[in-house]
Amino acid sequence: MKSTRKKLIWLALPFLIAVILWFKWGNWFFNPPEPAYIPTSTPSRIMLTWSGNPLNSRDVTWEGDTATHLGILQITNSSFKGDTSIYQSRSKIIKTSGGASAFFKVGIINLKAGETYHYRVANGPYWSEWYYFRIGSSQDSTYSFIYLGDVQDSINGTSGKLFTKAYESRPNAAFMLFIGDMIERPHDAYWGEFFREGGAIFRTTPVIASPGNHEYYKGLFQKLDERWMAHFSFPQNGPPDFLGRACFWDYQNTRIISLDSNGIQTIPSALEQRKWLKSVLESTHQKWIIVIMHHPLYSTSRGRDYFYLRTLFKSLFDQYNVDLVLAGHDHAYGRAMHIPNSNLKNKQGAVYVVTHASPKLYDIGFSVKMDKLASNTQMYQLLDVSNDSIKFSAFTFDGSFFDGFTIHKDATGKKTVTDQAPKNSSSFLRPTKGFIKGSSKKEIEKYNQEMERWEKTRN
Ligand SMILES: [Fe+2]
Repeated sequence: MKSTRKKLIWLALPFLIAVILWFKWGNWFFNPPEPAYIPTSTPSRIMLTWSGNPLNSRDVTWEGDTATHLGILQITNSSFKGDTSIYQSRSKIIKTSGGASAFFKVGIINLKAGETYHYRVANGPYWSEWYYFRIGSSQDSTYSFIYLGDVQDSINGTSGKLFTKAYESRPNAAFMLFIGDMIERPHDAYWGEFFREGGAIFRTTPVIASPGNHEYYKGLFQKLDERWMAHFSFPQNGPPDFLGRACFWDYQNTRIISLDSNGIQTIPSALEQRKWLKSVLESTHQKWIIVIMHHPLYSTSRGRDYFYLRTLFKSLFDQYNVDLVLAGHDHAYGRAMHIPNSNLKNKQGAVYVVTHASPKLYDIGFSVKMDKLASNTQMYQLLDVSNDSIKFSAFTFDGSFFDGFTIHKDATGKKTVTDQAPKNSSSFLRPTKGFIKGSSKKEIEKYNQEMERWEKTRN
């Protein structure tokens, strides 16, 4: 009897695998062909980053057509009366199934802290307009930055309004942080959309980012779109197989560490990033440690759980007293500030935040670990950092204050977190239209029961 059952299982297995592949093939393996594109002869998609010391350097990248192999950057001081420096860049041609573009990259050095500079770039004879940026003051340990989750917008989408609102709230932000999935898929048109929405900000405010799954081509082993490296000039201090994808930046009193969570596709790649993370945490002398990664350790979305990320990284976050872990991917908002630091015998652990800026909305899984949850809205976040505190504020699409907390740390390293969030509002907890459309009456009832239960424990 037993052997018959075994035989049946073995016979059914290939059928089961075939059915799963049939349904999941598109999700896991299919890359839609890239529509044809022609880049402009004038410089486009200009982006400011830094890969060296943020107090005396900036990197600028831009794109153009392949007719010119020489890129030029001209820079001068704020009065336009001082010395003008010229930097040159040989093009890097990136070919895809839809076309080819030339990418240029310049590292500007010997800048002065506290100064404002003007710059413009050229593809051969074609010049951009003049833009400006400011270098932060070395005396100033207080600064702000903007944090945005998945953009993943449609063409002619809505995320740009969030970029503008966030930027208008913190026009002097030291940088804009993207948590991955800035594009829907690795196509020129989606990169174009990202820059169309945010390009005016990216030319003035440096960008830092962590890669998401949508910047990768699908496949058994996924591959990062080459244009990621061309647009984002980041420090080359990551693990050898993840250079430019995982890295860390030191800004004032903060070390920001980016992990490439989508690059964790094999056990060796997981261990390589873990080993590197440990060494980076060990060498940290900054007061604040912020880890950024596309996939969250504590998921907000219904039915998702990235337990392998907790297995890999949570103990290190605890051991080295990481303050804040910022993530995306779930297309809903969640904040957990009562996750204990198991290494310090239940003392305050990191605060974990998941957010998104996308019009694509997923439903909430009502984890008791979450102190604050939201679906049905796009969000943007502002962080104000000083020597004593990190103040975190999250806003809904219409600019309403939705969530806030402050992490305080005294001179001995003792940490407390205060909650400044307004009361949870049911309107942000209700199931999305998509969930209602695609779910049975019983599933919707279950959702509502979970929502009520969670609300009771939180309010
Ligand atoms: Fe994602």
